Amino acid sequence: MLRHAAPLLSPKRTASAGACAKQQFRRASRLASGSYEALRLNTTAASSSPTDSSAGGSHMRVGGQGGRSLQQKFYENRILDRYTSQEPKKVTLRQLVLFGRQLTEDKLVASANYVRTELPVRLAHRISDFQFLPYIAGTNPHLKMVYDLYWRAFDEFRKFPVVKTLDDNRRFCDNVEKNLLEHSQVIPQLGMGVSECADLVSPDEIDRFMNQMLISRISRRTLAEQHIALSRQFDTDLRAHLGLRPAESFAQLGNAPAGFSTQRIGIVRADCSAAQIIHECAVRAAALYEDAYHLPPGSAPQVIVEGHTDATFMCIPAHFSYIVHELLRNAMSHVMRRFAARLDDTATTKGAVASSSSSGPAFPPIRVTICSSHADIVVRVSDEGGGIAPPDVLQHIWSFTHPLKAKHLRNFHAIHRMEARVDEADAVSPLLSFGFGLPMSRVYARYWGGNVTVHSLPGHGVDAYVQLPRLGNVVENISARRASPFVASF
Ligand SMILES: Nc1ncnc2c1ncn2[C@@H]1O[C@H](COP(=O)(O)OP(=O)(O)O)[C@@H](O)[C@H]1O
Ligand SMILES: [Mg+2]
Repeated sequence: MLRHAAPLLSPKRTASAGACAKQQFRRASRLASGSYEALRLNTTAASSSPTDSSAGGSHMRVGGQGGRSLQQKFYENRILDRYTSQEPKKVTLRQLVLFGRQLTEDKLVASANYVRTELPVRLAHRISDFQFLPYIAGTNPHLKMVYDLYWRAFDEFRKFPVVKTLDDNRRFCDNVEKNLLEHSQVIPQLGMGVSECADLVSPDEIDRFMNQMLISRISRRTLAEQHIALSRQFDTDLRAHLGLRPAESFAQLGNAPAGFSTQRIGIVRADCSAAQIIHECAVRAAALYEDAYHLPPGSAPQVIVEGHTDATFMCIPAHFSYIVHELLRNAMSHVMRRFAARLDDTATTKGAVASSSSSGPAFPPIRVTICSSHADIVVRVSDEGGGIAPPDVLQHIWSFTHPLKAKHLRNFHAIHRMEARVDEADAVSPLLSFGFGLPMSRVYARYWGGNVTVHSLPGHGVDAYVQLPRLGNVVENISARRASPFVASF
């Protein structure tokens, strides 16, 4: 069951002493078996790497100084427990939109302090997930690298001074941006880490871990990017209001004059056109495959958008685009592979545009149908790529641990950064399979209370469905507690 949203920026958190005690007990049991403590010690060892020298937090610095005493570790665990005993303060898209209306300096400062206090809570829950992984997985260098990054960010944010002025906020935004950039290594590292642990940890446990990590990551980035977007837009409007030239730096802006306010909604769109985003994704996906196969423009399968093409909904366009783009890429890739003979004909008759050749289009089209109801928007992507084959692949398309998937995830060795954004797809060959597109798309959809499902029609094609709430009134679907299964909310 999805919960309803608490008011944005409400100061109250719910602390659970019982949950805290249980956590201490579980940790004590792990300490007895040595696994938990070993993971902590590994972190200490890793923190002597050069990148850790910039760490603002005690966790890394203490480790870098040659080992922490039991007392220090106990102190750090107590801090972590203090944060994990707090529930995240979840928001809805609607709250984000409404917040940006009549944006004032006070509201922006309040937003900064919400993000400043919320990020360490959300990070603490995920740090705790790492600590409860079986010891053998905790020693994996890729997972440990992410663990270290999370500790460092946790320490930095919890120690960041209260934001009181616009100048404080500009410094805070710079710090958040630096973190976002650093954490663009997280997805490849997690991918490699879980692929290497696929034989060591139960598939359910590793899938739950990975889904929790990814959904929490989206949630933190959403809060961070929304606040940065609002802050930058506010400063731009303030600059125009003060009549400053573009060359003059934001630092010269200082605080806003009394009564100054502006209207911005950051990274959210209140009336996003589904058809427009689908068109943009289709153009991008077609260009990717034409480029990869050295085909002239217009050769890729045509994408026909039909149904409620005038439908609009409240969403973060970057999230919806990611999902649609991944589904279209899958459809295009399988249609083009299935009709590869026609592809070869096209390549040999260089310069000829397949879709307008005398024998008709080279490929059957991909049909995208939009259906908008009062509460939801549903998009179906239908292709004639032959369906998912062999059929047992269908059972594993959402998993991170099946041997087939683990093989694909190892391709993350070829790249260092991935933020799971559409615009970065251009930098990686679409012929390189990560086995990551469908699970990540589902994480994006579920984060906002939606879903992605796939139906295979063997020998014919695939129908993939995206369903998203239309009105933006569903609270972020993040689960704080390690013990609660990821799928429990659906
Ligand atoms: N439209 C489709 N037609 C046929 N098979 C598909 C389709 N979409 C997904 N699949 C199968 O599901 C697998 C997982 O898809 P995905 O998560 O997008 O990873 P990737 O595309 O990187 O392999 C694919 O490798 C493929 O076997
Ligand atoms: Mg894919």
